[in-house]
Amino acid sequence: TWTTGNVIEEQVERIREQVAEGTAICALSGGVDSAVAAALVQRAIGERLTCVYVNHGLMRQDESAQIEKAFGESTGGAKLVVVDAEAQFLEALAGVTDPEQKRKIIGREFIRTFERAQADILREQGVVEAEADGGTHTTSADATAFLVQGTLYPDVVESGGGEGAANIKSHHNVGGLPEDLSFELVEPLRTLFKDEVRAVGSELGLPDEIVWRQPFPGPGLGIRIIGEVTRERLDILRRADAIARAELTAAGLDRDIWQCPVVLLADVRSVGVQGDGRTYGHPIVLRPVTSDDAMTADWAKVPYDVLGRISTRITNEVPEINRVVLDVTSKPPGTIEWE
Ligand code: XMP
Repeated sequence: TWTTGNVIEEQVERIREQVAEGTAICALSGGVDSAVAAALVQRAIGERLTCVYVNHGLMRQDESAQIEKAFGESTGGAKLVVVDAEAQFLEALAGVTDPEQKRKIIGREFIRTFERAQADILREQGVVEAEADGGTHTTSADATAFLVQGTLYPDVVESGGGEGAANIKSHHNVGGLPEDLSFELVEPLRTLFKDEVRAVGSELGLPDEIVWRQPFPGPGLGIRIIGEVTRERLDILRRADAIARAELTAAGLDRDIWQCPVVLLADVRSVGVQGDGRTYGHPIVLRPVTSDDAMTADWAKVPYDVLGRISTRITNEVPEINRVVLDVTSKPPGTIEWE
C-alpha cells in the first residue's frame, strides 16, 4: 500500500544505489517539485548534493529573493549556488515567438547553465582538495555527474514519455532537453502526482510556503508573453501578475485555485479611454483554474468582486494595460498555460 513513508524510504534507497559515490546537482526552481526532489536526494547522499538556482530572468516579482530565503530556512545546510543568467536567456530568446521554440531554447540554456555550474563546482572541490593535500590533486573528473530533477508523472506523460501519450508540449525538464546531455538524470518523483509530492514534502518537514506553492512552469513568464519576450514586456507582466496574485491571496483563494497564470497578449492592442485620453494598450488574460493534477482542469469561478478588484487595480496601476480578460476555457480543450 502507498504511504508517504514508504515512498521516502524506497526513493532514498534507489537514489543511493543510482548515485553511489558520485556527486549530484539539483536544479532548484523554487517550486514544490524540485524542493522535494532535492530533500530526498539530500537525505540519500547528504553533502554530495549541491543545489543550483538559475535566475533566468523569467520569474515573477520578488520571486528569486523569496526562493533563496525559503531555501535557507528549509534545507538544513544543503549547498546553494545562485546563477544570474538573465542576460543570457533574454539574448537567446530575442526575436522568438513560437511556443515550442521558446520552450526548447529555455530548456537548452538551462542545461548549458547547469553544465557550467557543475564544472565550477567540481573545480572548486578540486581546489579545496589540492590545498589540503599540498597542491598535488586535481578534480576527480571520472566521477559520474548526476542531475536531479523534480519531474512528475504528468510531465512525463504530456511530454510524450508515457505509453501511448501524445506530445502536447515540451516541458523544459523533459522533452525540451538537448540530445547531447552530459548528466545522468535522477528523477525521484517520476511516478508521483502533485498531491502525493505535497504529502511527501510535508512528511520531509518542508515549510507550507513551499509545499503549498502553486505550480509555476519551468519556462516561467517566457511562455506567458504571447509574442517576443523582452525586458519591457516582462516588466509589464510582472506588475500585473503581482496584483492578481496579491488580490487572490487577500481573498483567501490560494488553496481553492490550482494556479492562475496571467498572460500578456503582447502583440495585441486595443483602444481604451482613461480620463479624457485615448489609450492604445495591451490586454492581459487571467487564467484561474481548479485541478487535481493538471492533466485536466476547470476554469475557476472566482467571485466577481475579486475579479473586479483585480481588473481595476491592474488598469489603474499598470498604464500599459487597458483591458483585463478572463479565460473561461477548461482543459481540455485549452491547456492551462497559453503556450
Ligand atoms: P499545461 O499548460 O500543459 O500545463 O496544461 C500543465 C501544468 O504544467 C505546468 N507547466 C510546466 N511545468 N515545466 C514545468 O515544470 C514546463 O515546461 C511546464 N509547462 C507547463 C503548468 O503551469 C501547469 O501547472
